[in-house]
Amino acid sequence: MPPAKKRRSVSPLLLINIGQLITLRSVSANAGPRRGPALKELAIITDAAVLCLGGKIVSVGPTKDALRDPWIKKHRKQIVEIDCARKVVTPGFVDSHTHPVFVSPRLVDFEKRIEGASYEQIAAAGGGIRSSLEAVRKATRSALVTKVDRVLRDMAAHGTTTVEAKSGYGLTLESELKSLEAIREAAVSWPGTVISTLLGAHVVPKEFQDCSQNYVDTVCLEMIPQAARRTLAQFVDVFCDKGAFTPEESEQVFTAARKNGLDVRAHMGQLSETALAPFLRFEPASFDHMDHVSDDDVAQLAKRDTVATLVPGANYFLGLRSYPDARRLIDAGVPVALATDYNPGTSPTISMPMAMSLACTHMEMTPAETLAAGTINGAWSLRVADRKGTIEPGKDADLAVFEVEDYREIPYWFGANHCTLTVLNGVIESRD
Ligand code: NIG
Ligand code: FE
Repeated sequence: MPPAKKRRSVSPLLLINIGQLITLRSVSANAGPRRGPALKELAIITDAAVLCLGGKIVSVGPTKDALRDPWIKKHRKQIVEIDCARKVVTPGFVDSHTHPVFVSPRLVDFEKRIEGASYEQIAAAGGGIRSSLEAVRKATRSALVTKVDRVLRDMAAHGTTTVEAKSGYGLTLESELKSLEAIREAAVSWPGTVISTLLGAHVVPKEFQDCSQNYVDTVCLEMIPQAARRTLAQFVDVFCDKGAFTPEESEQVFTAARKNGLDVRAHMGQLSETALAPFLRFEPASFDHMDHVSDDDVAQLAKRDTVATLVPGANYFLGLRSYPDARRLIDAGVPVALATDYNPGTSPTISMPMAMSLACTHMEMTPAETLAAGTINGAWSLRVADRKGTIEPGKDADLAVFEVEDYREIPYWFGANHCTLTVLNGVIESRD
């Protein structure tokens, strides 16, 4: 059984005088992830207020209505009131793709790339993911908990309230389960929400390099069943690409996941194109990266709720000239999310505003589209859209306050953190 989330006493909370409240309330009749023109509908309320009780949002509207509300008037003394002084408030970001369980940065790889080596060349020469394994295998669980805990707190300080966290830097049964346990333990003491993913199929470790099928069997017959039985993961991920796992091996991983009751997501199309059609029968929650994807697959995805999760931090950090073609995907009707892909090899950033900024400047996404992609569509990709990703009565009290007057400033001021306060399931974390 997962350890129970520590009970916190959550005071009633009233945010008033919000200059722009980005509710992202759905204005279209279509349920499901936001696609096409719906991706830029922010449903902004100006001079707004939000009331939260017991970790949930209970009312949303103009400040003047909140101040006239009889219940609020009666309980004003017990309510923690935050005057937002005309700042911008958004739903807390949903970072739907991160790899936080590692020990050290990969500075040698970083310098090699600056000297001209590619990600694939570095990996083939023994760097890359494989060079992160030993430290995780040797680390104690509590050392990993400390690492993950710091990352979650740093993310919250940048406005993130829900995080998908993958294992994937141990790649033995024991170290993958230890990584998932570390995620679970760090999540217990963090007021936000963590969704765990087993990424045992990140790369074939070198002790299996001549018999990758044996490693796939370890993932399918040991890691997945044990992670499922111990409810250590909600999702199973696979890195399906050249130098990692073939489509056939990836299908085996998906089959084992579904057999064990876990949902699936995959790293797809990062380095090369893989036909997506054979994977659709597994109803993947998300395909991530998607730098390379065929027109046929784009047309298929436009008819489904599988989200394309774009992670421009990886393209930026690898110094690539090209980025995922977000316009092609959005204009075709594919639901698109944005995430940091926080990891030591390709994207060492915890900042969702940075991912949004890159999407604006390199992927022709508008600031409005990046906000929806970083909140409600991330929530869809994690299958938590019923409680996350918008500011509406009944949803979890996950909010981010930014010291700006216009939401477009969030991706505009790149490299700076303008988030001054975050509310995670009703718990306030302030930077002041
Ligand atoms: O999303 N592509 C696979 N996984 C990570 C990179 C992991 C690493 O290089 O450590 C990614 O880019
Ligand atoms: Fe990744």
